[in-house]
Amino acid sequence: MSKVPYRVYLSEEEIPRKWYNLRADMKEQHEPYINPGTMKPAKAEDLYAVFCEELAKQEMDDKTRYVDIPEEVLNFYKIYRPSPLCRAYNLEKALDTPAKIYYKFEGNNTSGSHKLNSAVAQVYYAKKQGITSLTTETGAGQWGTALSEACAYFEIPLTVYMVKVSSQQKPYRKAIMETFGAKVIPSPSDTTEAGRAILAKNPNTGGSLGCAISEAIEHAVKTENCRYVLGSVLNQVLLHQSIIGLETKAAMEKIDTYPDIVIGCAGGGSNLGGLIAPFMQDKLTEKANPYFIAVEPASCPSLTRGKYAYDFCDTGKITPLAKMYTLGCEFIPSANHAGGLRYHGMSPILSKLYHDGYMDEARAVEQTRIFDAAALFAKYETILPAPESSHAIRVAIDEALKCKETGEAKTILFGLTGTGYFDMQAYIQYNENKMSDYIPTDEDLQKGFDALPSIPGIQD
Ligand SMILES: Cc1ncc(COP(=O)(O)O)c(C=O)c1O
Repeated sequence: MSKVPYRVYLSEEEIPRKWYNLRADMKEQHEPYINPGTMKPAKAEDLYAVFCEELAKQEMDDKTRYVDIPEEVLNFYKIYRPSPLCRAYNLEKALDTPAKIYYKFEGNNTSGSHKLNSAVAQVYYAKKQGITSLTTETGAGQWGTALSEACAYFEIPLTVYMVKVSSQQKPYRKAIMETFGAKVIPSPSDTTEAGRAILAKNPNTGGSLGCAISEAIEHAVKTENCRYVLGSVLNQVLLHQSIIGLETKAAMEKIDTYPDIVIGCAGGGSNLGGLIAPFMQDKLTEKANPYFIAVEPASCPSLTRGKYAYDFCDTGKITPLAKMYTLGCEFIPSANHAGGLRYHGMSPILSKLYHDGYMDEARAVEQTRIFDAAALFAKYETILPAPESSHAIRVAIDEALKCKETGEAKTILFGLTGTGYFDMQAYIQYNENKMSDYIPTDEDLQKGFDALPSIPGIQD
């Protein structure tokens, strides 16, 4: 066979026409969402006040294996997809490893990350339903940017609650969102009851994704014909992100290869869930057995040190309860630069797959080791990676170095979810040796676990 090219591109016609719903092949479903009002399993209708109807239906659908991607969404995808599958020849050479390293690069669109894949779908369904404004939260700013772009395209006004510490670290992210026409409010803010309550308890807090979600949902519920959209965690988001894995698999088939190891960073689980989706299908249907690794920051270790329990998806405790790996919705992580990985919980689908042993491993890594990997990758692959994505890079490098020791030529695939051009403050700290690694103590974590909700008969 001829040498695998540095970049494997699919053609526009080869963009998948359907998303893949992993739940249709799961042996067991994740536990149902619980409506906090009734403490009974939530139905799609219970979500209509917050989410668009089509998205609420997707959230609950565990039967439909393939979902048609609407024409309007496909047309938007064509602006920036297919994204390339890259062979990291230069990194392999620098590591002197027999491993073959591939990454799916989702940062080569104008928003700079994979978040656009779900943003455009969610805004499309909102527009179709006649919704007149949207609201959301953003951590690192990548989701807010992607959603601002999609809202500008479909002409829907957007309010973004941006985690305060991120808005201070990344003023340019805020400027991009505003340029696309979004209104950006640092969270917690005094514009909502949830924000005011959080500020009253902890006036100097830098905020968290959980707080920002509470504010955004309250805004949606209290504003006429407004809905809330979320960039991760939810089943519907994993469904839209399956485009990443489907394209990857199609590109790998072209070069007649298949991954031994698949690695992704895990914040709320959307890129990882999307990347692994068709490979997990192979595992669930016993066609192949790739090894899956989720990577999270040591400062916010939901899979590695969290509890598998019912919890609220937000700090203000207004969302449905989901059974997931969680540090407790009141847990506020230290100001780690990987803003997109500072979420207390994890996708219920990924949590279930991890709990049942299909998701093979989770690893927590300290920030400085992440930036060591980011700097090495930037140097040899000429892309400045987002700190979030660099978690996957770190573990891909570690696995490739293991191959060097054992002499195995494993095929390693990881998700390069975005670029880090707005994370320069973090890179400056790293370059000046001023970066610190905060790892929460067991006592810190216990405070979060103590606040887990009790559900009569289910979780006492
Ligand atoms: C570049 C990038 N990668 C990864 C993530 C993590 O999110 P998820 O776990 O939903 O993919 C984020 C979240 O903001 C991000 O911005």
